[in-house]
Amino acid sequence: MVVPKRYVIRFANELNNFRSMEFNALASLYKLNFKFIEPISEKPFMIIETSDEDTLRKVFNRIILATSLFECWISSNDLNQFINEINNCLQIKNDEYYQNCSFRIQVEAFGRKISQSQKIERIERLSGLSLKGPIRMTNPDVTFYYMEYYGLNPNIQPELPYQILFGKWIANSNRKLLSTFSLKNRKFIANTSMDATLAFLMANIARVNVDDIVYDPFVGSGSLLVSAAYYGAYVCGTDIDYPLLHGMIKPTRVGAKKREDDESVQGNLKQYGLESRYLNVIAGDSSLQLFRNNIEFDAIITDPPYGIRESRERIGSKKSDPTIPIEYLDRHLPAKLQYKLDDIYHDLLNFSAQHLKPNGIVTFWAPYFKRFYNNETTKQFQTLSQIDSLPKYDHHNDPSLRFQHQRLRLLSFGEQKLTKNCSRILVTMQKIL
Ligand SMILES: C[S@@+](CC[C@H](N)C(=O)[O-])C[C@H]1O[C@@H](n2cnc3c(N)ncnc32)[C@H](O)[C@@H]1O
Repeated sequence: MVVPKRYVIRFANELNNFRSMEFNALASLYKLNFKFIEPISEKPFMIIETSDEDTLRKVFNRIILATSLFECWISSNDLNQFINEINNCLQIKNDEYYQNCSFRIQVEAFGRKISQSQKIERIERLSGLSLKGPIRMTNPDVTFYYMEYYGLNPNIQPELPYQILFGKWIANSNRKLLSTFSLKNRKFIANTSMDATLAFLMANIARVNVDDIVYDPFVGSGSLLVSAAYYGAYVCGTDIDYPLLHGMIKPTRVGAKKREDDESVQGNLKQYGLESRYLNVIAGDSSLQLFRNNIEFDAIITDPPYGIRESRERIGSKKSDPTIPIEYLDRHLPAKLQYKLDDIYHDLLNFSAQHLKPNGIVTFWAPYFKRFYNNETTKQFQTLSQIDSLPKYDHHNDPSLRFQHQRLRLLSFGEQKLTKNCSRILVTMQKIL
């Protein structure tokens, strides 16, 4: 039987509210058997125990909000106790390989800046390990990892760290793909293209897997399809904006004079060698029944229009137009109506309940406005004639009260602050069998 080991996952200092959503989703996707030793908290790391390092590596390799993974040999809240544990560190004392291999020690402090000479002083604290191998700064056999945690408040810096961690570094995360997929170099972007970090986060939270079929009913420039396709899914979407889908709108990039021919969702996938995962996009209205009942998706990932930066529209006519002769009615393209926020979410949940496979996941953003907005905010949103259709919940309200459906269960939600009075929440629901 493989003896369980402890591991530290070090998080990036970004989108902290979404750490546990992402980790839990990926742990469930890859069926990682683990227990929390230090669960996800405000700290920039968590500690888990598992005997399945291979699966942990798969999970870690996808976590977009983490930076590194290391085996946790010592975790202590007291410096003297830490030094004592270093002097008796069983992993090294019992293993000739670690005693003799080439190595380097990576020192990090969170919540305090430490100078190079302080780093050297920390390394000297580890002399009790009695490592005999040569120090090698590039390509050592083993990198040891030493981390001090001084808390999150930069105004309160304790003399000694709250916690010291020590262990063997295993891997850095795959965050470099964020620059590869940055919108800065994306072939086709629109005003509301989702940035790469959030797009990959959403694909992870939606547990997108190889050969899944993923759908975005408000696809825009297709950023959410790019990340899903990167993880091996076949992707498709719908958008009401025909000129946008066909690259006929004004260029979004500053300085660009006209759109290139291949500025399209398909062009984006091609740019990253993911064209084989492209199914299609439909110019259509997601408030209507577009698919046959038996069409099913593994996941629906979407950023519906809130009407702040893009219009919320659906096909319809404010009143029937008596001037259109009856024989032309079926070919008549009706005027667009405003698509109310409540209707968007109502339709999205019904659509998901109908078209997700059993256990399939829908992940979507919803706007969130503080109940007691100040006059400025009220004025701003009244101008946009939105105030009545805004979902009105506050921090203490449970979104499960708002996002309910008989055939979907709420898995998670997390808030991203946009301005003082306005946030959006990422809601994830799963189709009940
Ligand atoms: C927030 S944007 C989505 C941006 C997209 N995630 C991206 O990365 O480009 C919302 C999109 O919904 C589209 N939309 C608005 N009303 C719609 C409707 N009734 N049916 C389908 N698409 C609609 C808009 O044209 C817009 O492109």
